[in-house]
Amino acid sequence: MGDVLGTFPEQTPCLEHNNSIYPDEGIECQTCHMPHAEGSVSISNVGTGFPAREPFSQHYFVGSNKVMLKLLKDNVDALGITASSSQFDDTITRLDDLLENQTASMVIRNAGKEGNVLSLDVGIQQMVGHKFPTGFPSRRVWLHVTVTSPTGGIIFESGKPAPDGSITGCDADTDPGRYEPHYDIIYRQDQVQIYEAIMQDPDGNVTYTLLRASEFVKDNRLLPLGFDIQNAAKGIAVKGAAVNDADFTSGYDQISYQINTGAYFGPFNVRVELLMQTISYRFIQDLYNDQNVLADKFIELYDDAAKMPVLVTSAETIIP
Ligand code: HEC
Repeated sequence: MGDVLGTFPEQTPCLEHNNSIYPDEGIECQTCHMPHAEGSVSISNVGTGFPAREPFSQHYFVGSNKVMLKLLKDNVDALGITASSSQFDDTITRLDDLLENQTASMVIRNAGKEGNVLSLDVGIQQMVGHKFPTGFPSRRVWLHVTVTSPTGGIIFESGKPAPDGSITGCDADTDPGRYEPHYDIIYRQDQVQIYEAIMQDPDGNVTYTLLRASEFVKDNRLLPLGFDIQNAAKGIAVKGAAVNDADFTSGYDQISYQINTGAYFGPFNVRVELLMQTISYRFIQDLYNDQNVLADKFIELYDDAAKMPVLVTSAETIIP
């Protein structure tokens, strides 16, 4: 047994929600996660004479964890699951709708070229009732930016997802002791804007083990609208370089890209995608080190699952 050095709030959507505009607007967890059924519904099949009631909330609880739904769906026999394929598909359809239409939107502003340098600002509007990505710190959301030239193909790519679940250029994915910082401006392909929470232990080392965590060393997850950064309690505070980024604000982040086009000619096609992954590459690598039956079983199932991220939103522009 080790010494207890403190406490660490691991998942805080409720505290984040309380520090946003949503409670004041009467928007509760249920508003987004348990949408109302149409019309009125009888609340019991037992007995008679109960009036049908409305509004009636559907017990959906959809979030963004597509990988896990697919993993369960593909292993119903092995896991003894009683839900049918079509029930899983219905839930996955609702999840896609939540992610595509109610999570985030993106705009590209000030796109232009001076000399050999392309510049553009990417603005991300967050629509979630708490931080995004939510909850368990294995989740990450990032910007995948590609610039294509008619003469050179892809001449710049930041945040490329690899089939093994890693992100090209992400420091954490090559070195377990490091992590990708928050950026306000990106110049190089090995710089990636990743919205995530990274834990550290009391000695200041990055950790992926909840029981060793004492605080977040980086937490630049996209904030809900109305989030009061200055007065946020310790457990939900913004951490790392995002603290000093003036355009990382409540419900919004803006990031600039300054890209050297070298000898290539335009017009340049710029595509920006906001991608989301439930379990980061380093979290899975960390599980490989855990010598226990449940972790081994999970890894076995996860190895066959698609590790590629899901697309949340995207934007495109052409720079002459
Ligand atoms: C304004 C709408 C909105 C409100 C209000 C809201 N959420 Fe969410 N929530 C979302 C969206 C959109 C997602 C999916 C994106 C993500 O993971 O952040 C989500 C995801 C989640 C997840 C992750 C689910 C998963 O797939 O694992 C949890 C947990 C969660 N919310 C809990 C809560 C709780 C608890 C509250 C109230 C304190 C709440 N939410 C309020 C919109 C909302």
